[in-house]
Amino acid sequence: MPILIKNAAQIEGIRRSSHLARQALYEVAPMMIEGTTTQAIEDKIIAFINAHNAKAATLNYKGYPASCCISLNDVVCHGIPGSPMLQNGDILNVDVTTILDGYFGDTSMMFSVGDISPEAQRLINVTKRCMDIGIEQCYPGNSIGNIGYYIAQYAHANGYSVVHQFCGHGVGVKFHEDPEVNHEADRNSGVKLRPGMTFTIEPMINQGKARVKIDKRDKWTARTIDGKLSAQFEHTVLITETGVEVLTDIVHEYNANGVSQLALAEAAS
Ligand code: MF3
Ligand code: CO
Ligand code: CO
Repeated sequence: MPILIKNAAQIEGIRRSSHLARQALYEVAPMMIEGTTTQAIEDKIIAFINAHNAKAATLNYKGYPASCCISLNDVVCHGIPGSPMLQNGDILNVDVTTILDGYFGDTSMMFSVGDISPEAQRLINVTKRCMDIGIEQCYPGNSIGNIGYYIAQYAHANGYSVVHQFCGHGVGVKFHEDPEVNHEADRNSGVKLRPGMTFTIEPMINQGKARVKIDKRDKWTARTIDGKLSAQFEHTVLITETGVEVLTDIVHEYNANGVSQLALAEAAS
């Protein structure tokens, strides 16, 4: 399928859906304490999405049974909410994709429960920076491969591996559109970015081996093969005439060049 270049009306619809998906993540942030079940997080997300006349894109998507993905510790992605209770020291990713007025927004972030290990914190910090490095490569004329080239370079420099079995994707009028956004790629490879493209950047970074195995019973949960930790962040971005708009950024973290102002503030302190 060709890469869809979105018009102004489509962009506004995708922006609204993206904002809603991101807001759902902030809604569940106070639940990240010992004893919360992942089902309770799911229930809160369902209630929030329903209250805004939207739908969860994941529910019944290729048979997926829930309205979000909750991926704990060694789960790389596509963890199914259910009976597990959050425990002190857990790290988890919550991933929400909304459909609002027919438009899709897709975003995820990491949370931590109580006191996490310095190793887990470092993995989260490096993974957030990996996503931000990818967002900084988003401007018209740049090759899409540079997103993955610079993400992988930074992950490897920090002793981590990049998951290959899942990638970012075009998003907006469908859940998964072209292009694929690889988080490890050759420099200057792939299609050139153009204004009106909307896609996700969602690197999954592993402490140990890159390889992922899918749970035989539920056919969804993807875990690291070595049981080590994995982390992920995801934003939906729009390529603009001059740079990028992070459509799932509702706190004005990123400027029009895709630079995280929070990262700049931390670097300066
Ligand atoms: N939201 C995920 C993504 O970032 C996809 C989840 S598909 C599901 O692309 F079926 F597992 F929900
Ligand atoms: Co996605
Ligand atoms: Co997602």
